[in-house]
Amino acid sequence: MSMKKLVITEMNYNKEAYAHFGTKFLIGNGYMGVRGTMEEYGAEYMPAVNIAGVYNLASPEKWRESLNAPNPFFAKLFVDGEELSLPNSADKVVFHEHKLCLTCGIHFRKTTFKTAKGNVTIETQRFASMTNFNTLAIKYSVVSDYDCLSKIVSGIDGVVWDINGPHFTSFNVTDNVVTGICDSGVSVTTSAKDIPFGDVTNSKIENGEKSTMNELSFSAKKGVEFGFSKIAFVQTSLDDKISKEPRKANFLLKYDDLRNEQKQYWEEFWKNSFVSIEGDEKAEIALNYSIYSLQIVAPRHANALSIPARGLSGQVYKGAVFWDTEMFMLDYFILNDPKTAKTLLKYRVDGLKGALEKADREGYNGAFYAWESHEDGIEACSKFNVTDVFTGRAVRTYFDDKQVHISSAIAYGMKKYVSMTGDYSILFEGGLDVVVECANFYLSLLTSRIFPKAGSPRKLEILDVVGPDEYHERVSNNAYTNRMAKFVFEFTLEALNIAKKAIKKNPSLYPFPESLNALKAGLKKIIPDMIDPKVNKDGVIEQFDGYFDLEDVSVDEVRSRLKDPREYWGGSNGVAYPTQVIKQADVVTMLAIFKDEFEKETMQANLDYYEPRTEHGSSLSACMYGLLQCFCDVPDCAYPMFLKSAEVDIVAPKKLWAGGIYIGGSHPASWGGAYQMLVYGFAGLKHNTKTKGKSSISFDPHLPKHWKRVSFNMTIEGKKYSVKITHDKVELNQI
Ligand code: BGC
Repeated sequence: MSMKKLVITEMNYNKEAYAHFGTKFLIGNGYMGVRGTMEEYGAEYMPAVNIAGVYNLASPEKWRESLNAPNPFFAKLFVDGEELSLPNSADKVVFHEHKLCLTCGIHFRKTTFKTAKGNVTIETQRFASMTNFNTLAIKYSVVSDYDCLSKIVSGIDGVVWDINGPHFTSFNVTDNVVTGICDSGVSVTTSAKDIPFGDVTNSKIENGEKSTMNELSFSAKKGVEFGFSKIAFVQTSLDDKISKEPRKANFLLKYDDLRNEQKQYWEEFWKNSFVSIEGDEKAEIALNYSIYSLQIVAPRHANALSIPARGLSGQVYKGAVFWDTEMFMLDYFILNDPKTAKTLLKYRVDGLKGALEKADREGYNGAFYAWESHEDGIEACSKFNVTDVFTGRAVRTYFDDKQVHISSAIAYGMKKYVSMTGDYSILFEGGLDVVVECANFYLSLLTSRIFPKAGSPRKLEILDVVGPDEYHERVSNNAYTNRMAKFVFEFTLEALNIAKKAIKKNPSLYPFPESLNALKAGLKKIIPDMIDPKVNKDGVIEQFDGYFDLEDVSVDEVRSRLKDPREYWGGSNGVAYPTQVIKQADVVTMLAIFKDEFEKETMQANLDYYEPRTEHGSSLSACMYGLLQCFCDVPDCAYPMFLKSAEVDIVAPKKLWAGGIYIGGSHPASWGGAYQMLVYGFAGLKHNTKTKGKSSISFDPHLPKHWKRVSFNMTIEGKKYSVKITHDKVELNQI
């Protein structure tokens, strides 16, 4: 598939945008993410080398969160004794360009400063190696239009930006190596080697308490480039546990070789994964930016690891994994990189222990997965997850103990993986236990309050939950949660049947205990008794018991009631709580997932009802509305939702701070949601699972009017296809 060069560019220096650009220009390789900040930035401008899957608690009053490594990209320039750095020398900037090349996975920066003698230009290019996971590389070059004496201080900065830190309580610093050590014993080591070029007159190393710096002095001639290239390695004491093949620091690697490898990796990647949208360059760039972004956080180096809700852009949301992975991101990996999809699910297999413990702690059976998951399924969500802006007091929230739909997302992920890849191995590598324990969990949540008349069935309900719309807490019969619980029961039956068949052929696969036969029988009885969603005369499904009785006001009206723009809208004191205004797609998500069970009119009626009442206060919302709009055959209404999802980290963010807490960072669920909209919504892919041993692929396209053709590749059941869709033709070819 032919593709244009994909580049994201910002011209002119904007000091205020440092938090946003750190996210927008992110590079990464799944092992770590590196924020797109300037080389000379210290911790106050939020640079970060954020590591996947390694966490620490700094003190009991703080939150557990992921770790940022000592930063090996730190560099500062001095020319004839004058510091030329951002933001300090912003008034001297005469040219500034900030670029992310998606085609080659390299971050570029070019800044020209005007000094009393002339112009000095810094150019850098840097990347996180996609082929050597622990490795980062940078080339930093300077050219001046006059002769000068220059110094570059280039080193490893151990004064890292933390949200709930500091995490390193001690440091080991030697020449070009900084190790930060946490009280827990977890340590992170960054080592680096600078190779200067140009007329180097002196080079010395200064080691501080937390940092090591190379001072490289140059006698620079007008127009002649000088600077350094650097290869750096980031390693943690948990590499052996997490990584498939932990790498040792290898300073024999050369910058140019690594850069060529990097370009080749991305070239190959785009050959398979580029999505072409003819007729809409903006949408094409935004979607492929989302695809690039998913790829740089994909844990390809690991056996079992998942993607945090804010990717690897920092410690926002504690670096924790949410339902975002299975419900929003997983489809991209299933269709493009099934191995990584399995790695994501194996993370949940490893997390089963934590989920069983959480269920036990909260008084349930089975597996209650962590709302904000850390390694081994540890629950990272605090019971007081929001701070009241007026009193500064922590507010009791119910995200972790009542947002019970989390476990259904895991089972749903398993279902999507096995049916679309045709690979059932995950079930026998712990996945079946996960599914069964999720079913046991929902069984223990069922209640029967309504006494049936003699002869009529009981009605099983789920009370006291938080649905995807987090603003209304402790509600009963949330339509989404109930349907997902029922889905878990249905899929458990399906998975047990698959297992039985496979075990017949190979009994050593799984020890099918008698209790599973009893579970099957129980589930069969229970499924028909689950309470149906309540529907009003217009076909609108009530989000939860009593929702329609709440005050019916507009989102703007609710917003106008805020006394402080940073106030939390949800919870019993929140402005949205007494009203029908919701945070994000809830009933709509349910309809998008189970679309085959509903008439188009019902879906449209619910869209019409819920959309004006939705704040879209979560980046997970727009894509679900957009999907349902496609299913209702109104793709031009879906289009803005698509752009909103795909461009979430490209355009200026709506909210970066909640009180004093940074909540910016990247939005992987939104990228995954945009991808789902493209493939399932606009292209209308349907994979119908096996009936009588056969499955089928079909399309029901709904392209926006101005799109001419959509082309992409995908892998289903181990076969790779190319797909081309226009307004009047679908071409599907095995490749
Ligand atoms: C949303 C959740 C989501 C989380 C992480 C919250 O704002 O309400 O649904 O899982 O962010 O993205």
